[in-house]
Amino acid sequence: MKRRAFLKSACLASACLLPACKSSVQHAIGAVKLEANNFAASLLSCTHNGCAVTPAENGFVCSCHGARFEHLGHVIKGPAKQDLTSFDTSSDQQFVTIYLPA
Ligand code: FES
Repeated sequence: MKRRAFLKSACLASACLLPACKSSVQHAIGAVKLEANNFAASLLSCTHNGCAVTPAENGFVCSCHGARFEHLGHVIKGPAKQDLTSFDTSSDQQFVTIYLPA
């Protein structure tokens, strides 16, 4: 997927998972449109050291130490060793619902 297509299909929810925040830094959830009414959602917090990750070509990148994750949140370049935390989603014609853990 080309960068422009990825960025076009990705939308970032501005919700912060306050219990998941390790400091006063707020982390967002990224929702990527895979196809009509099918989204993948990941916590945009790097699993290496908790820095925010941002959308980049074909996925997400961490600005702290350069870890890269593909659009489903799987690690494709370290130093992070774990995938981004992902969440189940559902959607219809109007809404995308992201299910957060209790
Ligand atoms: S905190 Fe993201 S690569 Fe280190």
